[in-house]
Amino acid sequence: FDFDKRAKAARGKTSAAVRSQLASPFEPFQRDLPLPPLAKPVRASKKLEEYVIDMKPGTADILPGLQTPVLGYNGLFPGPTIRARRGRAVHVTQRNQSGRSLNVHLHGGVTEPQFDGHPHDAIPTGAERLYKYPNVAHSATLWYHDHAHGETAQTLFAGLAGFYILDDPDDKHLDLPQGDYDVPLMITDRSFNQDGSFRYRFDLDRGFRGDTILVNGAVAPRMKVERRLYRLRFLNASNARAYTLKLGNGREMIQIGSDGGLLPAPVRRKEIPMEPAERVDVIVDFRQFGVGSKVILHNEGGEPSTDAVMRFDVVRATGSEDAKIPQLLREEEELPEVNAERSWPLTFQGLAGGASMWQIGGGGFNEMRIDCRPRLGSTELWTWRNLSQRTHPMHMHGYHFRVVSVNGKPPHPGDRGWKDTVAVYPNETVVVRPYFDYFGGLYVFHCHAAEHGDMSMMGQMEVVA
Ligand code: C2O
Ligand code: CU
Repeated sequence: FDFDKRAKAARGKTSAAVRSQLASPFEPFQRDLPLPPLAKPVRASKKLEEYVIDMKPGTADILPGLQTPVLGYNGLFPGPTIRARRGRAVHVTQRNQSGRSLNVHLHGGVTEPQFDGHPHDAIPTGAERLYKYPNVAHSATLWYHDHAHGETAQTLFAGLAGFYILDDPDDKHLDLPQGDYDVPLMITDRSFNQDGSFRYRFDLDRGFRGDTILVNGAVAPRMKVERRLYRLRFLNASNARAYTLKLGNGREMIQIGSDGGLLPAPVRRKEIPMEPAERVDVIVDFRQFGVGSKVILHNEGGEPSTDAVMRFDVVRATGSEDAKIPQLLREEEELPEVNAERSWPLTFQGLAGGASMWQIGGGGFNEMRIDCRPRLGSTELWTWRNLSQRTHPMHMHGYHFRVVSVNGKPPHPGDRGWKDTVAVYPNETVVVRPYFDYFGGLYVFHCHAAEHGDMSMMGQMEVVA
């Protein structure tokens, strides 16, 4: 079973017309990689860090000589990075100065339901809301983004997304690259108008897919790297575009983590497919390249075969020649027995009057309906059956799951850690095993292709004691 072919086969049908639409009109490698600023707490103690963030309009320098209007956290795209530590809570006061209703979801976060950003927990414009994040779960690359009901495709596209990196002091012994050598990379796609503003086009079928790939808000940037190990934290924060990352014509990247943090053991990969909202943490060993090398990270999907994501320019030799990656990253914990099994067909449903929508389990989102009631402390088996011709990155709030099988086969080793979003390609059946640990209450699960989730591929679960 060739896993890399799996993604290709699913997306290989992209027509030449679509491929040319997805070719960027801009020169790559013109700018250095920007890093989102670190958010600064307004108060900090041993047990708690407090932040205040303003959701407001701003401008971004993306194209030469032009200003791009965005809606961002502190007016920035991407938003400021929050760095949290396991065992120390983070409180964020989000002030909505955007002119529209918003709310904030900590994607991959384990929080009580009132702080999770259920699409109906809106913050009206002019108001603020306090989100409490206990940081009780494992270290992981999380992100926060808007989740306005039925409008997430627009608000995410406008720029409301930022990193939330959760560290764990217990990971210290692994001696993974830190500081300047631990780099968050937010991949998004956009199209642009002549004046530099983002150009959005609603596409219910495939979701929005832009012609230009940005990393941390810059068009295919370049990054100076030293000849040593780096930890790169990739996040696909695109509305609906998927990527297959490939380094320097097929050099290996060593995957150490996914959505829910560290994998049991490192996995060497030449290609890494990423659907919207997925995170992949890799170690790249730049000692395999000589000083002066320019190493391109490509997107190689069924989409243009040579579009660049970014470039690494190896500038000098530093770091220890014998730095190594530990062979055991995280112990796999035992899970409680499976308490229930559920099956969810994923379909594109024609409606009366010629309209259509995306559905889970034969229904669209209905705030008055609770689709299931898992028991707190239990695990379940959920089967996603994709009966449609599009890929659905299926995401669950509040909890993580393990991927049990993909079309009856074990998942790729890179998907064997904790996940919160899993790709379900056309005609696939993917079985996952969520663990309803920590907090009970009302949460949503949905497709993370933003246009699908808005229209209205989302369900609700109430986790009960
Ligand atoms: Cu990033 Cu409801 O999700
Ligand atoms: Cu979908």
